[in-house]
Amino acid sequence: MPTPAEPAATTTHDADWWRQAAVYQIYPRSFSDSNGDGLGDLKGITARVPYLKELGIDAVWLSPFYPSALADGGYDVDDYRNVDPRLGTLEDFDEMAAALHAAGIKVIVDIVPNHTSDRHVWFQEALAAPKGSAARGRYIFRDGRGENGELPPNEWTSIFGGGAWERVTEPDGTPGQWYFHLFAKEQPDLDWDNPEVHEDFLTTLRFWSDRGADGFRVDVAHGLKKDLNAEVASLDLLHRADLFREGEHPLWDRDEVHSIYAEWRKVFNEYNPPRTAVAEAWVHADRRAAYASPEGLGQAFNFDLLEADFDAEQFREIIAKNLAEAAATGTSSTWVFSNHDVVRHATRYGLPKGSGRGGKGADGKDWLLEGGDPAQIDVARGLRRAKAATLLMLALPGSAYLYQGEELGLQEAGQIPDADRQDPTFFRNKGVEVGRDGCRVPLPWEATPTEGSSFGFGANGSHLPQPAWFADYAAGAQAADAGSTLAFYRRALALRHELQGAESLGWQDASDDDVLHFVRPGGWHVVANFGTAPVELPAGETLLASAEVEGGKLPGEATAWVSVSA
Ligand code: GLC
Repeated sequence: MPTPAEPAATTTHDADWWRQAAVYQIYPRSFSDSNGDGLGDLKGITARVPYLKELGIDAVWLSPFYPSALADGGYDVDDYRNVDPRLGTLEDFDEMAAALHAAGIKVIVDIVPNHTSDRHVWFQEALAAPKGSAARGRYIFRDGRGENGELPPNEWTSIFGGGAWERVTEPDGTPGQWYFHLFAKEQPDLDWDNPEVHEDFLTTLRFWSDRGADGFRVDVAHGLKKDLNAEVASLDLLHRADLFREGEHPLWDRDEVHSIYAEWRKVFNEYNPPRTAVAEAWVHADRRAAYASPEGLGQAFNFDLLEADFDAEQFREIIAKNLAEAAATGTSSTWVFSNHDVVRHATRYGLPKGSGRGGKGADGKDWLLEGGDPAQIDVARGLRRAKAATLLMLALPGSAYLYQGEELGLQEAGQIPDADRQDPTFFRNKGVEVGRDGCRVPLPWEATPTEGSSFGFGANGSHLPQPAWFADYAAGAQAADAGSTLAFYRRALALRHELQGAESLGWQDASDDDVLHFVRPGGWHVVANFGTAPVELPAGETLLASAEVEGGKLPGEATAWVSVSA
């Protein structure tokens, strides 16, 4: 193994850098391919640092780049302290981190503690070891029910469809015990009652912190502690949270999970500035505080806007509630519309029957299940609303999480041939879910590709097929066009740096129920019009608007930032 490089210099010792950061999520396999193998890689990211710098983000969050069989897009990790050879080496990571830091951009890496992959050395040891062994004790192995243990220990189902238990073949060739997996069968759950599991993750956190990671995104942070003896004969794991008292669901958001993060916090605080973390925890707003507390991970994703419709009242309620919750905990709120698990928001907002996580098609069902037909998207409206919502988000106190491609106004690729699909939800849940591949298609960098060049993503195709219309969204063409979505994002992010001050927001009375109006310190007024009729803007200098302001009026489905001097 190569010797670790000197820790790359961090850009600032400001311990609070994360509180109002704009964080850009990179899905490494689909960002930029430097070696023409069809998969994005770390050198590809390094080559695009000038692009990221010009975009004006404060940090990048990298989805997993660790060795993986890609049974779940890299969230099935073979080795937590290495780089997938197809994506590069540890030296490539060091080079990338150094280039990002030199550009003033922080680095957040993804930690996947709920499960390893089934190729992880621990799981291989567990398979080779007998029942009751220490090696099996790192995972959740149980005997089956029935005369010969042929039935799973219970009937619980996995998130990705099908049963949550998989039977193993014992080393002597006989059918044996069962192991538990919340997600795909290639993702066996770790046993977080085992001290060795705790120790190993502390080592991993130090490993990446020493290599220059400034923070961590914690995958499925609310799922690590479980009560598998709960008396629940059959459980729809996703939908029956109501059956349990808060903090006592057998699988989700159990109170004792926080003792893990208290240990992690001690490690984060060994560094200067302390390493940061954000919990991916799909919990109610009032349960977020414990994850986001300064004694815990420090911040938690708030997916409320992502799940809302484009609607003034819903937005106002969500914003007010989350700002209040965050203030009570001492953290800052997070905001997000798109990530690698949901339909892109420029698409959701252009669909006939509303947004929600997956978007609703003409029949009111999940649009992807209805066939993901691009003809159903009102592209102009989707983009118009997405820009309005994003400009509103970028004006809020707290950190804003952006997903690669949204700065191009990219639409979801809803129609991927079955043969090209990769997401396990598609395979395990046939007919019920189509999967998340449509937001993971490699980015278009150039509009006019030479043969095989995948719109500048790489020199030799892309691991998920890019539709022809991706050409219309190419970053290169947009960079040269002052009226492009990319230019709009750049301007918004640059202004945000200038304007961002204290984390406070004052609501102003709006003339119309479809309008939200608030002011940030320094006379930075933000007006978002969710309706279709134009509305009057406050007198002042319009700094930026998501649609053209004429005669002091903001058109429908648009947001403006206005500087009003006192
Ligand atoms: C998180 C990730 C998702 C992954 C799952 C299992 O929800 O965001 O992509 O499939 O965890 O690791």
